[in-house]
Amino acid sequence: MELPQDKHAVLRIMARPSDVNIAGDIFGGWLMSQCDIAGGIYASRLAGGRVVTVAVNNFQFIAPVLVADIVSIYVDTIRIGTTSITVKVTVLIERRDGKNETTMKVAEADIVYVHIDENRQPAAITQE
Ligand SMILES: CC(C)(COP(=O)(O)OP(=O)(O)OC[C@H]1O[C@@H](n2cnc3c(N)ncnc32)[C@H](O)[C@@H]1OP(=O)(O)O)[C@@H](O)C(=O)NCCC(=O)NCCS
Repeated sequence: MELPQDKHAVLRIMARPSDVNIAGDIFGGWLMSQCDIAGGIYASRLAGGRVVTVAVNNFQFIAPVLVADIVSIYVDTIRIGTTSITVKVTVLIERRDGKNETTMKVAEADIVYVHIDENRQPAAITQE
């Protein structure tokens, strides 16, 4: 598997020793947080304003993330509603082992964001 050539990751970050669980692998909550950040950046751009996360659905950890993996998070639109945006978040990692580099999908999720106004109330999404 290779990184997609036709689109950019919203977020790219290296997994660090400070992000591990007690077993020494990367903590799932860290990865969920990065996914929420990436999805939020994407949804906020689409909505043209502030968004909040209202639901995280179908989060799947497919393979473990290890320290020094380079994590790339891709985001695609699933649905744009009146005030909400549902996105598909896909997480790929690049792992170097000596001269070999492997790329694999490690997680995916569907995340729902709501566009809000200055009073934190849902606001209509108007696309230009
Ligand atoms: C997001 C929030 C403003 C929505 O308020 P609300 O009164 O429930 O709003 P509504 O019922 O009008 O729903 C707004 C939209 O969200 C969608 N929605 C609400 N709850 C949802 C859920 N659990 N799953 C999927 N979509 C949901 C609705 O379908 C609607 O979409 P649409 O306008 O595109 O049709 C409110 O729930 C909130 O502030 N939640 C906390 C958000 C937050 O702080 N997130 C970070 C947590 S640390």
